[in-house]
Parts: sequence; C-alpha cells; structure tokens
Amino acid sequence: MPELAPDLLDKVTNLAKRRGFIFQSAEIYGGFRSTYDYGPLGVNMLRNVKDQWWLSMVQLRDDVVGIDAAILGPPAVWAASGHLETFTDPLVDCRNCKERWREDKIDGICPKCGSKEFTEPRAFNLMFKTQAGPVEGEGATAYLRPETAQGMFTNFGNVLASIRKKPPFGIAQVGKSFRNEITPQNFVFRTREFEQMEMEYFVPPAEAPKWHQYWIDARYNWYINLGIPAEFLRLHEHALADLSHYSKGTTDVEFAYPWGWDELEGIANRGDYDLTQHSTHSGTKLDYFDPTTNERYTPYVIEPAAGATRAMMAFLLAAYHEDVVEGETRSVLRLDWRIAPYQVAILPLSKKPELEGVSREILAKLQPHFMCDYDVTQSIGKRYRRQDEVGTPFCITVDFDTLQDQSVTVRDRDTTEQTRVKISDLLSDLRRRTNQE
Ligand code: GAP
Repeated sequence: MPELAPDLLDKVTNLAKRRGFIFQSAEIYGGFRSTYDYGPLGVNMLRNVKDQWWLSMVQLRDDVVGIDAAILGPPAVWAASGHLETFTDPLVDCRNCKERWREDKIDGICPKCGSKEFTEPRAFNLMFKTQAGPVEGEGATAYLRPETAQGMFTNFGNVLASIRKKPPFGIAQVGKSFRNEITPQNFVFRTREFEQMEMEYFVPPAEAPKWHQYWIDARYNWYINLGIPAEFLRLHEHALADLSHYSKGTTDVEFAYPWGWDELEGIANRGDYDLTQHSTHSGTKLDYFDPTTNERYTPYVIEPAAGATRAMMAFLLAAYHEDVVEGETRSVLRLDWRIAPYQVAILPLSKKPELEGVSREILAKLQPHFMCDYDVTQSIGKRYRRQDEVGTPFCITVDFDTLQDQSVTVRDRDTTEQTRVKISDLLSDLRRRTNQE
C-alpha cells in the first residue's frame, strides 16, 4: 500500500468541484444523493478515459467490435440474466437509529450509532424499475440496465450474422448503468448512476483459462500504461463463495484508495452462463457453428468489466501531488497527457492586441491536434499554478520577444523546465514530447 496523504480524498473532491471536474447533481436544490455531474474539465477527462479504453479494446484490435445498446430493457432480459432473482444485497435496519445498511459492509455494528441490534437481513434488488409507455401493468415494466453486458449477449446472434468474426472475438460497449446501491459512498466510487466500459470476449470453452489470464494481464497493464504507479495496483482473485451468480472465476484489479484496497475493475470467466440462459429463455439459439470442424458449441465468455467514472477517480487520486516550486507549495495533477482535460494551455503574457493576435493564431494551429485552454487573466505564475492543478502537461507562453523571434516558451508541468521553441516547430515539438513522432 503506498503512503497516501490522510486527507487525499477531501483534497481531490474539493479540487474536482472547485476546478470544474465533478459537481454534485442538482446542487442548487440541496443535491441529489449520490449522483454527480461532470463539469467542463471532468467531461474532457472522462471522455479521454473512455476513448483510451476504446482505442486499446476496439480500434487497435481486429478481433473486437463495438455496439451501443439500449439502457431500458424488458423484464425477460433480466429474468434470463439472473438479475431479477439474484442481483440483490442483504439489507438490514438498525433497530436503534433506524438507518439502513448493507449487512456485509458493517461488521455487525451500526456505523451511525454503534448499536448491534439489527432486523433480519432482507434481499434488496438493486435494479431500478420503471414503466415504459402509458400502460400500467406487467407488460409495460422496464428496468434500467445494471450492467452494459447483457446488450452484448442479447445481440450475439445479430453481431455474428452481420460481421465476419469467429471465436475468439469480442463485443465491447461503453455506457451508463444504474444500480440502486444501498450505501453509495466515497465520492464517485460507488454511485447509483455510473458509466461502464465492458467487453465480452467469446472463446472456445477449452481456451477460456488462457484468455482469462490474457485479459487480466492486459487490463492491469492498461492502467500502468496510462500512468498509475504499480504500487497503487494489485490483483485479487475472488474466493469461490464470493463469486457473482454468473461467474466461474473472477480476478479484480484493485486500487489503493484512501480507505484501503478496493475494486477498480473485475475480469470474470462467465462460462456459457449468459448465452445458455438467453437461448433457453428466448428460444433463439445463441451458439457458434465452426465450419472447419463441423462442430456447434456455446462459446465461453471472458469479461473485462471496468467503471469509467471509477477509473477516472483512480486516475485523479494517483495523479494528485503537492511539491515545492520556487519556494511555493503547489498542487499538481501528474496525469498522463492522453487523459488530462487539457493537453496544452496558451498563455499570452499580456492582453495587448498584438500578443493576443499571435496567441490566437497558435491556438487555431494546435486545436485540431490537442485539447487547448486559452487564458489571459492574472500573473503568469498564477496561470501556471492553475494549469498544474488541473494537470495540463504543457503551457505555451507568448511574450513580447515572440513578436521579434517568432518563438514561444514551452513549459513542462512536471519538471517546470522552460524551453524556447520556434512557432513553426511548435506542433512537431509537442508531438515529440507526447511520443507521437
Ligand atoms: N458486467 C459485470 C459487472 O457489471 P461489476 O463488478 O458489478 O461487474 C464492473 O461492475 C465495474 O463497474 C466495477 O469494477 C466498477 O468499476 C464499476 N461499478 C460497478 N458498480 C458501480 C457503482 N455503483 N458506481 C460506480 N462504478 C461501479
């Protein structure tokens, strides 16, 4: 476990609000418990996290395709998936203060009042139920999906019929999921509305163990590659008794959160559970005929299932640092440039029109390649600190010498080193710094 500042969660939560990453939802009405809105910087960063996932899971592979399935689903899907029956948490009420808790999270002591007297546990289904259309009754009941995964299983036949893939191949999806969590907590770690990045990888059953290990390694390395230090990550294999209803084996990538090791992502071997269940319940065969062996079989599924919003939180926590620059303490987010909200900030030294003119020309030149901020307010030192605090890797300062030598200063967020670069070389200089050339 790395050594973390005791108030790290508060610091990151405050920064996230103050600098436009994450706001409490409906805050002007007192907030709506455990829902969050992503602000101007947060939406950039969350999008970058999802884009990086899509890049590595879909774009850079020839064996994975994407879909975007509906969030609302009929009860039949959730009866087949097992969620109607088993997607529950054990819920207890404290007999003293009446607070409601998840039994498996409180060690027999009420966290609010310390009482040890509870009601008998009841199974509480985590799915949000709603009505589709104006008709009351069973036929119109719909559920908000609690995982994106089922869209990949119900569309297995459609995807197979419309693209030329054979196992091993995967279907990926990024999107919102909803769970009526009993105890949402720890900022955006566990919320009722969140985003998932999931991929179902369909394999011949005999190859399942090999691919399970492959995806555990690949997903662990994705976080490392995007800048989370190895000491913040570990793998945790679930005990048999703790497995979800569909799983034959699950390994989590865990992260060192301020409250201890906890789940970041789960990589499960779902066996043939889902395709078999949907085949049985729908009457539509969901299997694969291999023309090379003349064999028909139900593929096994290996599922790397990540949370986009939870991953963004982990990236923020791991990136937060305080150091001393020129005798002043600064807070800095050492985010990888690929997920930082802004990659480049253009900072004209003054508001004089001649400086603004050339600065805006530079901005227009860089914008197609990098997400840029443009800031002319306050002293240059304060502007550097502001960019450091939100993780902008490069600041471009345009000063009066620029008008003479057609050069600007490029400042590196982490080293604070400043280099003079010709405007004509600026784009390739930034591409070199971000390993794109
Ligand atoms: N399809 C499998 C599945 O949904 P899960 O472990 O329940 O597995 C996968 O969820 C990931 O989704 C988790 O590792 C976590 O990152 C994210 N996640 C799950 N519930 C969440 C919640 N209430 N709030 C934020 N993220 C959540």
